Amino acid sequence: MKNVVVVGAGTMGHGIAEVCALAGREVTLVDIKDEFLEKAMQKIEWSLRKLSEKGRLKERVEDVLGRIKTTKNLAEAAKSADFVIEAVVENTDVKREVFKTLDENCREDVILSTNTSTIPITDIASATSRQDKVIGLHFFNPPMLIKLVEIIKGEKMSDETLRRTVEFAKSIGMDYVVVEKDVPGFLVNRINLRVFTEALRLVEEGHKPEEVDAAARYRLGLPMGIFEVIDFSGVDVVYYVMNEVIKRGVKIKPSKIIEEMVKGGRLGMKTGRGFYEYKGIYGRAKVPKSLAYNVNPLRIIAPAVNEAAWLIRNGIASKEDVEKAMMLGMSYPRGLLEMADDYGIDAILKTLEARKSETGLEEYEIDPLLKEMVDTNRLGKKSGEGFYKWKYEKVEFGPVIYEKRHNYAMITMNRPDKLNALNEDMWIGLNRALLKAEEDKDVRAVVITGKGRAFCAGDDIAVMGSWKKFTDGKEFFEKVASPLVETLMSYTKPVISLVNGYAFGGGMELNLLFDIVIASEEASFAVPEGLIGALPPIASTVGIALLGRKLARYCLTGEQMDAEEAMRLGLVDIIVPADQIEIAGIEYVDKVSCLAPLSTKAIKESMRSLRKIFKASLDTGMHEIIELIPTEDFREGMAAFVQKRRARWKGE
Ligand code: NAI
Repeated sequence: MKNVVVVGAGTMGHGIAEVCALAGREVTLVDIKDEFLEKAMQKIEWSLRKLSEKGRLKERVEDVLGRIKTTKNLAEAAKSADFVIEAVVENTDVKREVFKTLDENCREDVILSTNTSTIPITDIASATSRQDKVIGLHFFNPPMLIKLVEIIKGEKMSDETLRRTVEFAKSIGMDYVVVEKDVPGFLVNRINLRVFTEALRLVEEGHKPEEVDAAARYRLGLPMGIFEVIDFSGVDVVYYVMNEVIKRGVKIKPSKIIEEMVKGGRLGMKTGRGFYEYKGIYGRAKVPKSLAYNVNPLRIIAPAVNEAAWLIRNGIASKEDVEKAMMLGMSYPRGLLEMADDYGIDAILKTLEARKSETGLEEYEIDPLLKEMVDTNRLGKKSGEGFYKWKYEKVEFGPVIYEKRHNYAMITMNRPDKLNALNEDMWIGLNRALLKAEEDKDVRAVVITGKGRAFCAGDDIAVMGSWKKFTDGKEFFEKVASPLVETLMSYTKPVISLVNGYAFGGGMELNLLFDIVIASEEASFAVPEGLIGALPPIASTVGIALLGRKLARYCLTGEQMDAEEAMRLGLVDIIVPADQIEIAGIEYVDKVSCLAPLSTKAIKESMRSLRKIFKASLDTGMHEIIELIPTEDFREGMAAFVQKRRARWKGE
């Protein structure tokens, strides 16, 4: 397949011609006007010179250019073709006319491919007498950078045509995915349109494009925000594709916003204004990171996962191709289905259900594949299987649930009726769970949370109240509490805590030893040990050292602080809406897992050396508590506290 004819020298045609010429093909580029051809050649030359300047061209620019001929005579060009790629305007009549001419003039064995985004391949093929040799070969803009093509089967196309097209695509350096049926939007656009539609809905609901894009970039890890992509592709192009697939039966309620923008000429980067304003062609939008938690990223990906499930269940695309298409075609950092497995298929389903009941729209109808997955407990990493199989293990250490979720450990304090208070079993369970995670080479990070409405309400007062003598407390601290503190102080893996509710006393103080603290908007912190006559050793030693003098006020009054105050104090890193706390933790697991394990270890070791400095004062603090135990103050304080708390809970 030496001679390639590329028909249409516009945005896509010139790029495709360049890709083919760079791969050593003799290319004939066809258009209807000389000026279009000249412009195309100028663009190709500019691009080749850039490559050459960067040292990425193995031959002379002139040699590559020498392999591209231009002509307005399609019939003549067709005669010498070994393979044809059509990239003329997106108009069925024009394309059918071009294919008729190609059919009449190309050798019988020549494959005619089309780069159409929206027209059924079968409609184009029917203009020819070789329907078995007409195929979709869908490039992405710009073809020089996005090394992926979607190969779309026409209804009457032969397997031989598919085989030869795959071979051709590989020979020009492209990776490929196969779309088994000629469905509107094929694979990537079908999934993209779901993402775009939901992003537009969020804006219709009052969110700013920056908020949607911040969630996409800083939480989903996409290289560009959704609206940045639309601006880059052209608001009109997206609008057009959206309308065409809707016409062909895809259930999407069109967005008014995008229609108004097209009418008003706000077409994106190319007009300097779209969802963002641009100075210069390649300007980038400003997307502040601080907005990342204003939008739930599940909203953005749930409809896309639903669409992917539809494609897979209907045998249109394989799981592997869905992943490859989104990674290569849209630069997703990992596959869409892998993301779904990370977040949990149940979470995706819940998001869709909520959208369905809020809007009543058919497009949120949950695909049976997702339903079946949830019904059979294939929830993703959290159950050991979703779209993929994951390493999973669940162990209970007393009131502590340890789950290995492939690359991280989820540790849940599970005494919800006692607000996950730290009794002996909880201290020991937490330590054992942490040690288990530390030993497991697969585990790259630990996430700790509490079941129910509390993270952890601190030391179990009932246990403390039972101490009669100095040795009771001493033993407790030495044998029960200290080992956990020691473990955390020398831990080599990142520990992320999800503070879902109350974090009091020891429950608050443990957070001082974790690395990343994510709090729900409803979280509340306090160190009330002073009120019961005990001292808060971690808060008043390590805590003051890490957070500064301001913590003293809370140690000395037992006053509660909300998540915002805790964030100002430096205890909390991120505040998220309550329903997003788990997914925010999962996102951070992903972020910390990007580091090489040895780097993580080195960083943690350095922190450990710093923490060691506080060890002596921590020991002093512990000693102070132990000294207090046999005193009358301690007994009285404890009794008063328990009574007061009971009264408060009873609403007295
Ligand atoms: P374009 O408008 O930039 O280029 C189309 C070219 O076709 C023009 O130069 C036009 O003069 C030429 N043309 C029209 N009638 C012709 C004929 N009878 N014979 C020869 N040339 C003719 O359009 P663009 O964006 O390059 O799109 C081309 C095709 O690629 C369309 O089918 C489109 O759906 C598809 N596509 C576009 C993408 C994009 O991002 N622009 C991405 C992927 C596919």
